Amino acid sequence: MTESQTSTTEGSATETFEPLIITFCCNWCSYAGADLAGTSRLQYPENIRIIRVMCSGMVHPNLIIEALSKGADGVLMLGCHPGDCHYLDGNLRAQARVEAIELLLDDLGIERERFRLEWVSAAEGPRFVEVIKGMIKQIKEVGPSPYKQ
Ligand code: FES
Repeated sequence: MTESQTSTTEGSATETFEPLIITFCCNWCSYAGADLAGTSRLQYPENIRIIRVMCSGMVHPNLIIEALSKGADGVLMLGCHPGDCHYLDGNLRAQARVEAIELLLDDLGIERERFRLEWVSAAEGPRFVEVIKGMIKQIKEVGPSPYKQ
């Protein structure tokens, strides 16, 4: 290995960190938005693992904590915009749980930045990509999960 290769390797540990982000997508809007991004051939990083759920309001906070405590670097929850939830107020219930989730994260010593709730509609393929890229950037700044080891 040459000297320049060594310094590049040593200096880029954080630059090469590729976070794993579990992304819960509600079936009716966000998953369709992700699908639209795919069919529109919009490029987005491979850091995410999508879990399709019927509604963001059906994701229990324990699932978010479990993902983060088992090594995911971040969890993103995507739901319909307010007023568009297929189950009327599921997304609002998800939003109401954010504070409780943040308190649980505090208790576990997990940075609050590792979780984010966003709205993405079925027609918002470009927004889906934008949200994914924004979350990856945020998690890269926070660094790898302390639970990863
Ligand atoms: Fe999309 Fe409820 S169906 S958030």
